[in-house]
Amino acid sequence: MQANNDAEPILEVRDLQTHFFTERGVVKAVKGVSFSLANGQTLGIVGESGCGKSVTAHSIMQLIKSPPGEIVDGEIVFRRQKRRAETIDIVKLDPKGVEMRSIRGGEISMIFQEPMTSLNPLHTVGRQISEVVELHQSLSKKEALKVAIDMLDRVRIADPQERVKQYPHQLSGGMRQRVMIALALSCNPSILIADEPTTALDVTIQAQIIDLMEQLQEDFGSSIIIITHNLGVVSQMADYVAVMYFGRVVEYGTAVDIFRNPQHPYTVGLLQSIPVLGRRKDVLVPIEGIVPNAIADIPGCAFADRCPHVMEKCRQHLPPAKTVDGEHQVACWLHEPVGDSEMDVAAGAAH
Ligand SMILES: Nc1ncnc2c1ncn2[C@@H]1O[C@H](COP(=O)(O)OP(=O)(O)O)[C@@H](O)[C@H]1O
Ligand code: SF4
Ligand SMILES: [Mg+2]
Repeated sequence: MQANNDAEPILEVRDLQTHFFTERGVVKAVKGVSFSLANGQTLGIVGESGCGKSVTAHSIMQLIKSPPGEIVDGEIVFRRQKRRAETIDIVKLDPKGVEMRSIRGGEISMIFQEPMTSLNPLHTVGRQISEVVELHQSLSKKEALKVAIDMLDRVRIADPQERVKQYPHQLSGGMRQRVMIALALSCNPSILIADEPTTALDVTIQAQIIDLMEQLQEDFGSSIIIITHNLGVVSQMADYVAVMYFGRVVEYGTAVDIFRNPQHPYTVGLLQSIPVLGRRKDVLVPIEGIVPNAIADIPGCAFADRCPHVMEKCRQHLPPAKTVDGEHQVACWLHEPVGDSEMDVAAGAAH
């Protein structure tokens, strides 16, 4: 094993495939996704609804319900910072086993889009946070409650001593989202996955939550995966960006690559259709058409029906990923792969 852990990514997702075996057929929600997350950095995952972002996140957390869902192939290599950088393939762990439970919530934690679905309405906020702390840090009840109060303070909830005694329904939407963040950070996770953390909130609260996540990342040194269709949030937070379409990563690169030099027609379309900080709303141009149903079997490029540059071969053959520059990769026939050295990251080989 390499001694230089700083240079190694904390998380590497390799050719991940997650399917749902339904009565209507097999939904191939994630069709060979690869990306890596460097320690202390932020990866943004963007794409329209139904592109497989949440299923990717749930796969990393081993939260895919089986049946009908299953990770059918791939690796999720996690370099455990809390275990002397021991590497482990999450896919090989029993989702309900001790090891996975200690990773989930102890080393990798997740903020969900709708806080009410993951907060327990019957328990006080203080009890929920202190239970996590007790479990993962082996502290006494009293000490754990102190940590809970401190965490609420850190996410800038006023009167934390009083708030710990309250139930989720007594809090506003923005405050519940802060509690979720406090809950997710209370065990000082190495990786925080935030799945559309601000979608349900108004713009001012959204900005506050983003600021808060950035501040907490600085304080705790966590790595973050932020999933959102808000490109403004991504441009503000992310070091790297993966653009997903129809269960695949179609473009990957640094935030600068993606925002200044987008190469995939889908990325270009997204940038023109969704508000980015500083761009006027009246010049937005929506991408025509919709994401194909995930149950469809499409042999070629799944963006073909919506693409202004579509060519004959796009419909017949899946475009493999090509490295365009440095770490910047794109899976589109406008960028012909040359030779064997091309990475096969985004297209996911023969799948
Ligand atoms: N439990 C499930 N059963 C069947 N299909 C599912 C299930 N969960 C997600 N899917 C399908 O997987 C695809 C990807 O979903 P998702 O990852 O939630 O998209 P995103 O988060 O990008 O909006 C969608 O077509 C969705 O309908
Ligand atoms: S492969 Fe073809 S259809 Fe797909 S995005 Fe590129 S040019 Fe458009
Ligand atoms: Mg989602």
